[in-house]
Amino acid sequence: MLLGCASVHVLVVGSGAREHALLLALRRDPEVEALSVAPGNAGTAAVADQYEVDVTSGEAVTALARRIGADLVVIGPEVPLVLGVADAVRAAGIACFGPSKDASRIEGSKAFAKDVMTAAGVRTAVSEIVDNPAHLDAALDRFGPPAGQAAWVVKDDGLAAGKGVVVTTDRDAARAHAASLLDAGHPVLLESFLDGPEVSLFCVVDGETVVPLLPAQDFKRVGDGDTGPNTGGMGAYTPLPWLPADVTRRIVDEIVKPVAAELVRRGSAFSGLLYAGLAITSNGPAVVEFNCRFGDPETQAVLALLESPLGQLLRAAAIGELAGQPPLQWRDGAAVTVVVAAENYPGRPRVGDVIHGAADGDTVLHAGTARRDDGALVSAGGRVLSVVGTGADLVAAREAAYATLAAIRLPGSHFRHDIGQAAAEGRIAL
Ligand code: GLY
Repeated sequence: MLLGCASVHVLVVGSGAREHALLLALRRDPEVEALSVAPGNAGTAAVADQYEVDVTSGEAVTALARRIGADLVVIGPEVPLVLGVADAVRAAGIACFGPSKDASRIEGSKAFAKDVMTAAGVRTAVSEIVDNPAHLDAALDRFGPPAGQAAWVVKDDGLAAGKGVVVTTDRDAARAHAASLLDAGHPVLLESFLDGPEVSLFCVVDGETVVPLLPAQDFKRVGDGDTGPNTGGMGAYTPLPWLPADVTRRIVDEIVKPVAAELVRRGSAFSGLLYAGLAITSNGPAVVEFNCRFGDPETQAVLALLESPLGQLLRAAAIGELAGQPPLQWRDGAAVTVVVAAENYPGRPRVGDVIHGAADGDTVLHAGTARRDDGALVSAGGRVLSVVGTGADLVAAREAAYATLAAIRLPGSHFRHDIGQAAAEGRIAL
C-alpha cells in the first residue's frame, strides 16, 4: 500500500543484531529506496550506509538525519528512547518510529509501568520498591517463596539490559543482589514470581491502535536448561506451537490495548513498538515487564517470517496512520535464532578475537562485531552474532540455525544448544 512517499530513506539507530534484522527486513520493502545505520556494526555495513553518531544525543541523531536526508528514523535501543531522542527527531519534522521520552517510561521506570498497569486493570506480579537498605530484610520476608515452589524476583528499577534481574530460591543470593543495587544508588523492585511459560508479544502501536506481530519466546539464562545468570537473551523462536490463538487475542485485548489506552489518557500516547513480556500462568496471561522497543533476539526470528513491507508499517505508525494499514502477512513455518556470545558473557566479555565462517547474508546477523585495520572480522561485544534458521516447522528451523552455526569459529565463544527444543518436542503445555 502506498503511503504517499514511494521512495523512503530510512535511518536505523543502533548497533545490535536487532538493528541488523530491521535493516534486512526494511531492504525487502520496495518503497525503501535508501538505508542508513548509526552506528551499526561490521555486518550492517553490507546492508546500509554507516555513520558514527552519539545515539544518546537527540541533537546529534537529528543533525545526522537532516544531513543524509532521512525521511524516517527507526530507533532500536531503549536508552536513546528513554532519553528523548525520538522527541528531538519528531520536533525537527522528521518521522520517527519510537516512543517519546514520556511514553518510554513504560520500560525506563518499572514503578511507572506498575502504576499504568494497575490503572489499566492489567494482571501483573505483586511488587514493592525498596530504596532504603534498612527496609530490605523485612521486604524480602514479605516476598519469600512459599513452600519451595517459587522464587524471589529482584530487579533494578531502571534500565539494565536484561542483566539487572535475579530470580532465585536462595534468600542470601536475593539479598546480595538487592544490596548491591542499593549500594550503587539504584532502587530495587521486589516482585512475586509468575509461574508459567514466557511469551514476548511485540505490538506496533500508534495511540490506541495496536497491531500484534507473531508471538515469540526468548531464552534469558546463559546456559542450557535455563541455568546460570540472566543475559540480554541467548536465543528465540517463533511462532509458539503451544500457544492457542485465543490467548494471543486475550493478550492484545486484555493487556496491550488497555495499557495503550491508559497511556493516551495520561497524555503519554505511545507511538512505536510496545513489547509485552508475559508469563502464561494458570490464571491466564500476566505481565512480567513492558519494553518500549523491539526485543533482542526475538526480532531476529520474528522479522525473518514477516512478508508485509516493514518500512510501510513503521512509517504508518510514525505518522499516525497505522489504523489504515492492511493486515500483516507472514510466511508459513517457523524461525529460530541462536546467539553466539563471547567468552565470559554475561560478565565482562573477551573481545578482539577473529571470527571465521560468519558468511554475509540473511542468516548470520551481527551484533558485537568490528573490522580490524587489516580487514579481519573480530568480536567487539558480549553478544557477537545471531544465527537465524527458518523452516517448515520448528524442528527444521532449529536444524537450519544449528547447521549454520556449526561453520562459525570464535575462540572461547558459547551458545545454547536448546533454543526452541522443548517446544519442538511438544514439551510445553499450558
Ligand atoms: N529479549 C529481551 C529483551 O529484548 O529485553
